[in-house]
Amino acid sequence: MSEGLVTAAYIVAAILFIFSLAGLSRHETSKQGNLFGMAGMAIALVATIFGPHTANIAWILIAMVIGGAIGIYLAQKVEMTEMPELVAMLHSFVGLAAVLVGFNSYGHFAHEFAPMNAVLSALGEQAQLAMTKQLNLTSLSTMKNIHLTEVFLGIFIGAVTFTGSIVAFGKLRGIISSNPLMLPHRHKLNLAALVVSFLLLVVFLQTDSGSVQVFTLLVMTVIALLFGWHLVASIGGADMPVVVSMLNSYSGWAAAAAGFMLSNDLLIVTGALVGSSGAILSYIMCKAMNRSFVSVIAGGFGTDGSSTGNAEEMGEYRETTAEEVAEQLKNSSSVIITPGYGLAVAQAQYPVAEITEKLRARGIKVRFGIHPVAGRLPGHMNVLLAEAKVPYDVVLEMDEINDDFPDTDTVLVIGANDTVNPAALEDPRSPIAGMPVLEVWKAQSVVVFKRSMNTGYAGVQNPLFFKDNSQMLFGDAKASVEAILRAL
Ligand code: TAP
Repeated sequence: MSEGLVTAAYIVAAILFIFSLAGLSRHETSKQGNLFGMAGMAIALVATIFGPHTANIAWILIAMVIGGAIGIYLAQKVEMTEMPELVAMLHSFVGLAAVLVGFNSYGHFAHEFAPMNAVLSALGEQAQLAMTKQLNLTSLSTMKNIHLTEVFLGIFIGAVTFTGSIVAFGKLRGIISSNPLMLPHRHKLNLAALVVSFLLLVVFLQTDSGSVQVFTLLVMTVIALLFGWHLVASIGGADMPVVVSMLNSYSGWAAAAAGFMLSNDLLIVTGALVGSSGAILSYIMCKAMNRSFVSVIAGGFGTDGSSTGNAEEMGEYRETTAEEVAEQLKNSSSVIITPGYGLAVAQAQYPVAEITEKLRARGIKVRFGIHPVAGRLPGHMNVLLAEAKVPYDVVLEMDEINDDFPDTDTVLVIGANDTVNPAALEDPRSPIAGMPVLEVWKAQSVVVFKRSMNTGYAGVQNPLFFKDNSQMLFGDAKASVEAILRAL
């Protein structure tokens, strides 16, 4: 494939990626968006593999077959509820790739560029200037510094993304505690890591000694790995949605950095698209959760560790049965369903869609209230409800429905907990304090579907369960909804 053809293919791929992002921004066009992304990636891969600068194609194809097989196996096996973990793991691969590309790129520099640089230095400044003019090049040392800075930053961003994503994976999977790690002087530690890394960059650029450069790169890598680990470990459970989208953004910047090191324009463009869309998503999430963007990216900056994560029961609660709930629904004129992570675990979206249809057929107004961080990934509930063919027009965002609860007869809280927790508004010391929630307790009656009195993701008890107008329907959400369906 000629250079010109590769460039043309890269432009087409970049345009397809932009269409893909545009398509993914709406339910109706999201499938199309995925197809655009897949087509763009296929074109990008073919153009890169068969481009003029690629050698050892057989090895690349072997690696692709192995990687592709693992990818297909994992994608088929993974449950919808495990998607965020998979995404976190994939982000860590991007970070690791940027680190490896960085070291490889430095190796090339050391072999090809450094000896030439040494000869020129030996010739003296005059000769260097004459040669640079002759070759019509910008100053050799500027080129060297730009390349080395790309390598340094690429490894730094990659290493932060790598360990940060591993901690995010552990927290989402429950292997690592979802409580924030509160090391003493943690903000000073973060600042010190950044300052020391900057000083190492200065040494890395100034020195002509290869061994000093390797040493500074290695020390910086260790610092960046620890920094990434600490940054995500300091963020509490309920703030994890922002971390996931933030790491998405970091992985984009890591890919862009790898693009600079490999002089691959498409990788730079794609990385920048992922990086900026991830940053915009993080900003939207922060706004939805009433968190400061800067404080979250700075590793939970602003949390002073005094919050009270209390999982103890708060008084008496009332239990109900599926038959009673069915009767109550029949006598309601307006119903709101607020789904959460438990609906996804139980895969209760299909019977829930059936109940919706049945109640609507009886003339009952049924709507869904979706919290922006319900479930475990952005848009989780919307995807599940769309999968079960719940009409889009009855699925409303939190802001659109929050004022309607006082005029609602019955609210069904199906597998949601943190996103309907009044403590967020009533207890300033709660770990979820300040997070806007669905104000379900303002309705006439609330039925909470869950299996036990266990807490939600943030690890705090929910005063909603103990309110006078609340009733608990214990059991797996799918089984409970199916029992109501039968009784209806
Ligand atoms: P959660 O607070 O996670 O609570 C889910 C509830 O579902 C639990 O209380 C659990 O209680 C119940 N449950 C689990 N399996 C069930 C089943 N099979 N049947 C019935 N109930 C079941 O849910 P939420 O309100 O959706 O809040 C989401 C939380 O996750 C927030 O804290 C959010 O910050 C965090 N988070 C969100 C994201 C994104 S991007 N959305 C990413 C990471 C973290 P039992 O065990 O008693 O059944």
